[in-house]
Amino acid sequence: MKNKIKFLGYALVVAIVLLQLYPSDKPMVSAENPDDLLLTNKVPENIASILKSACYDCHSNESKFPWYSNIAPIKWLVYDDIKEAREELNFSEWNTINRSDKGELLDDLSTVISEGEMPLEKYVLLHPEAKLSEEDREALVNWADEMLDSLYD
Ligand code: HEC
Repeated sequence: MKNKIKFLGYALVVAIVLLQLYPSDKPMVSAENPDDLLLTNKVPENIASILKSACYDCHSNESKFPWYSNIAPIKWLVYDDIKEAREELNFSEWNTINRSDKGELLDDLSTVISEGEMPLEKYVLLHPEAKLSEEDREALVNWADEMLDSLYD
């Protein structure tokens, strides 16, 4: 019995080590993003700070990768989420997005924030500082609505 448990333990370690060999593309990170929303627009400080702490890990080129996010199988999920999130909305490339797409994104932003869909639940579990209060959500939605109006000024 004891030997069996020992064997299973070793087998598990070997399996986890082998998983690390499976290739996966880590999303690129860039510190210089001249088209970033926060550089190219006047965004109030409280909004910028919410976006940075609750959204930028996935929706920008400035993702931070805690140690566990680089270990398979977790990294497969994290990398996929980041790639998908950037494809939908990348704040680092905001200034390159055309006006009608910006409008759609701001509209989607209001929706996902008021419905509590973002930031993703699993992310908030590991990043409690990203949890949005009622006031945070309200502030974000109001900002997105104003920003949407200002697109057509
Ligand atoms: C853990 C990664 C992660 C975080 C953090 C995160 N998102 Fe997302 N977001 C995603 C992924 C993945 C998608 C695409 C799949 C989906 O819609 O669920 C997405 C999609 C979106 C979309 C497009 C939705 C649609 O239906 O078109 C918006 C808008 C959005 N996120 C806004 C935000 C905002 C604002 C924040 C911060 C308050 C945020 N997200 C935080 C991962 C994240």
